[in-house]
Amino acid sequence: MSALAGLDVGTSGVKALALSPAGDVVARAEHAYPLSTPHPDWAEQDPEDWWRAAQAALAELDDFGSLGVSGQMHGLVVLDENGSVLRPAILWNDQRTTAECAEIEERIGLERLLELTGNRALTGFTAPKLLWLRTHEPDVYARIRHVLLPKDYVRFRLTGEHAIDVADASGTLLFDVAERRWSDEVIGALEIPRDWLPPVYESTEIGGAGDQAAGALGVGIDRPGPLSIVLGTSGVVFAALDTYRPEPQARLHTFCHAIPGTWHAMGVMLSAAGALQWLRRALGEASYEELLREAEAWPPGTEGLLFQPYLQGERTPHADADARGAFTGLTLRHDRGALVRAVLEGVAYGLRDSLELLRDVGVDAQVARISGGGARSELWLKIVASVLGLPLERTIAEEGAAFGAALLGGVKEGVFADAREAVEATVRVRDRVEPDATWQAAYDDGYLRYRQLYPTLRSLT
Ligand code: XUL
Repeated sequence: MSALAGLDVGTSGVKALALSPAGDVVARAEHAYPLSTPHPDWAEQDPEDWWRAAQAALAELDDFGSLGVSGQMHGLVVLDENGSVLRPAILWNDQRTTAECAEIEERIGLERLLELTGNRALTGFTAPKLLWLRTHEPDVYARIRHVLLPKDYVRFRLTGEHAIDVADASGTLLFDVAERRWSDEVIGALEIPRDWLPPVYESTEIGGAGDQAAGALGVGIDRPGPLSIVLGTSGVVFAALDTYRPEPQARLHTFCHAIPGTWHAMGVMLSAAGALQWLRRALGEASYEELLREAEAWPPGTEGLLFQPYLQGERTPHADADARGAFTGLTLRHDRGALVRAVLEGVAYGLRDSLELLRDVGVDAQVARISGGGARSELWLKIVASVLGLPLERTIAEEGAAFGAALLGGVKEGVFADAREAVEATVRVRDRVEPDATWQAAYDDGYLRYRQLYPTLRSLT
């Protein structure tokens, strides 16, 4: 039987995998592209870069029988009547829409918005980006005929089809997450033309999902049980839910999962492996291996050095576009390795914030599956396991979202009867990292101090 291909249109590049129906990776390809920050707090990409990278990556996979697509969520791609891109895409970690979020919560009322969508208006979501265009780029807004999310734009270029899946649609803020359909009430209240939005499908019908739902499926999270943790550009702690159960204050996102009739809750940090990438650039491009080796020489807690990873504002737990990054507790003894270790630890503390919120809503977390580029580092895994007090399992492919996309593509083409059968047939745990009991006291103490950073520093930014 021919291979199942999966594509992940990420923030740092496209990743593509080809799998055998038994889950063995038979080919992989990766093509990078730039991220542009033309103003402070902005984050944009050229959809043409995604398309070029996707074509190149798929060409390297050779032959495949099915294709599923996943990608960075929330990003706004606007097309004119000919399907041409009108401006660069505005991404999930772009922070320009604080005023539009306030406007949405005012127009609809926070309580009603939570009832209708399960979520509050956050700067990264898609709807506020459309309102920003209406105010700041009215000429562009006037020419919009179609709105797509990043991976759906790539599907459009591949097939000519306008479509979206329930998992990715959940992050637009225009979606009734409970009922798994567009919310006409929200769309009407925001005066957004309904016919700009593509038809919605279950992920298994269309063979695709936003990267967090696809990634969770790709590491086997097809029902409540293990969590999915992602150390990608963003950092995510994700729990599958078998009923629609939004967090009352919407401090977590509640979205549709890629399996019909199921949902998920997640906390999202905007800079996780992205923070390490930033530090590496700032330090002059030493190799990751070198930096991580130097970080390993420091004890847990890095002699009091703390890092707050809010380099592009933060979503969970603060929902604050103006939050900023910081190092505190520097001494003459701290060197390059110490800065790196503090970044690894700061991101782990941020993940713990999301874990605590999930526990508050009754998620019983005993173990997590971890994926994303950061999961390559044994040191980072041991730090995250120890900070969270949870064993972390790695599956055979670190590219969880591309793997999950391949499974969804396989379900769509009938290779598997459903997503659970696909997981059962393909997902295998490769290894497991336990928390280090000798590190946990230092990290419990570090976490308590970390939690004081944001309220203490907030007035300075
Ligand atoms: C999820 C989110 C990010 C992006 C990154 O809500 O914004 O994880 O999907 O790719």
